[in-house]
Amino acid sequence: MPIWDSACAPQELAELTWVPPRHKEEEAAAAKENIPLKVENKVENASSQKFLAGDAKKGAGLFKTRCAQCHTVVESEGNKIGPNLHGLFGRKTGSVEGFSYTDANKQKGITWDENTLFEYLENPKKYIPGTKMAFGGLKKGKDRNDLITWLKQEC
Ligand code: HEC
Repeated sequence: MPIWDSACAPQELAELTWVPPRHKEEEAAAAKENIPLKVENKVENASSQKFLAGDAKKGAGLFKTRCAQCHTVVESEGNKIGPNLHGLFGRKTGSVEGFSYTDANKQKGITWDENTLFEYLENPKKYIPGTKMAFGGLKKGKDRNDLITWLKQEC
């Protein structure tokens, strides 16, 4: 009988002694397997993904609850806390007349379309570091697809 099986052997000693190298290898292998798993979960919502047409009705609801306190898509309603989003698609960043943008937003220098919006709205502060848009982002790709589908109709 190995000495660490005896009732008086301290638990830690038993554990330390009784881990064969093989066990450690298995643990390391399992840990490695977990990494791609986590990455996969992230990829589901990753910004490298592209826009896919979604549910405009759901998008309308999302705009109302997540964007409308700061933005309108109706031209005549002008700017609110955020710039007017009428005519957004095909427009360069920071080009609404009379809205006081940050330099960060103005100088981003991209054109708004489905895919730039898809990436921006996941994490606006990551896409435009220094933006004053106080919005954490829509983390679910599906929500962004639904919202952008609606925006395309309304803007
Ligand atoms: C708390 C207010 C607030 C909320 C909520 C908000 N925004 Fe904004 N948004 C702003 C502000 C302010 C700016 C201007 C940012 C700057 O100049 O740095 C902006 C900028 C933008 C721009 C860039 C416009 C341009 O002309 O370059 C887009 C697109 C946009 N918001 C879309 C959205 C959408 C879609 C939502 C909802 C998912 C949303 N925003 C939620 C305040 C907000």
